[in-house]
Amino acid sequence: MQEKIAQLRGAFKDALSAAKDAPALEALRVEYLGKKGSVAALMQNLRSLAGEEKKAAGQVINELKTGVEQAIKAAGEALAEAELKAQIAAAKPYDVSLPVRTPHGSYHPITLVQREVERIFVTMGFTVEEYPEVVDDYHCFEALNIPKHHPARDMQDTYYLSNGQLLKTHTSAAQNSIMRKYGAPLRAIFPGRCFRNESIDACHENTFFQMEGIMIDRDISISNLIYFMKTMLSEVFQRDVKVRLRPGFFPFVEPGFELDISCLICGGEGCPSCKDSGWLELCPCGMIHPRVLEMGGIDTNEYTGFAFGLGLTRLAMMRYGIKDIRDFNSGSLKALAQFEG
Ligand code: DAH
Repeated sequence: MQEKIAQLRGAFKDALSAAKDAPALEALRVEYLGKKGSVAALMQNLRSLAGEEKKAAGQVINELKTGVEQAIKAAGEALAEAELKAQIAAAKPYDVSLPVRTPHGSYHPITLVQREVERIFVTMGFTVEEYPEVVDDYHCFEALNIPKHHPARDMQDTYYLSNGQLLKTHTSAAQNSIMRKYGAPLRAIFPGRCFRNESIDACHENTFFQMEGIMIDRDISISNLIYFMKTMLSEVFQRDVKVRLRPGFFPFVEPGFELDISCLICGGEGCPSCKDSGWLELCPCGMIHPRVLEMGGIDTNEYTGFAFGLGLTRLAMMRYGIKDIRDFNSGSLKALAQFEG
């Protein structure tokens, strides 16, 4: 019996050193420790012994069993560790401080629409101008023919800073500086963030985006204005958009208009989105008031021009079917992450 046990111990040692992977180790475990394994067979043999002999042999078998268990466990651990080390050695060095190659996230829907409109106007010879968000009273109002105490200021209450400057209420605030910078002839668009004291609901925000445009040249007329707006809107919506002008009052244009487009949802038939009128108000515009041109240093004997103030936020809502304006500034990834661009 003792001899048998010694033999088995020797055989196990050899087999263990030959087992090079996890399946081989498992096979070894079954071979020695399984129900029908070698150790169990030895236990069976114990029955033929008695007394001290049986006791001694039993002890040796138990020792063998524990030894085999421990050896297999240790070999398994050593194998796993070696595997991990090999994986680490094979892995490419990873530097977490490196900038990512593929950008994460997506552009804001207003950025997407803004870029699209910019691209369209650039192809029509317009330059894209930047203008600060903090402006003075002169540029936001006076230079646009809105003197102090003019009722048109009521609709454009904003945040005033202690130094007398204010957060611009409309992109028109850049008109004067751009006219002075370039003179005539001139084609420019200037997108920007605007601020107003508004009661916030699904359609109104205190912070929103506009895209202003001006074109000044000899013989510019309302038909030029209609042509440019129609071309731009047809490109944005990728279909022929019908437009109409209604009279609208803005102190810095004369005549002034509200430009409507035929409702894209019902095709002009009338639906809840267009309040059953078949038209959507999209873009106030007009022929630049001669006084505004003069304040911008433009010779009104030679030049005329048109201006428009496109509601970029509004356009983004229509373009993407966004029903609540508050989604734009919410920072909600659920609402914004769907816009890939
Ligand atoms: N600045 C005006 C507003 O925000 C919109 C506007 C109207 C802009 C007529 C224009 C224009 O350029 O011609 O209410």
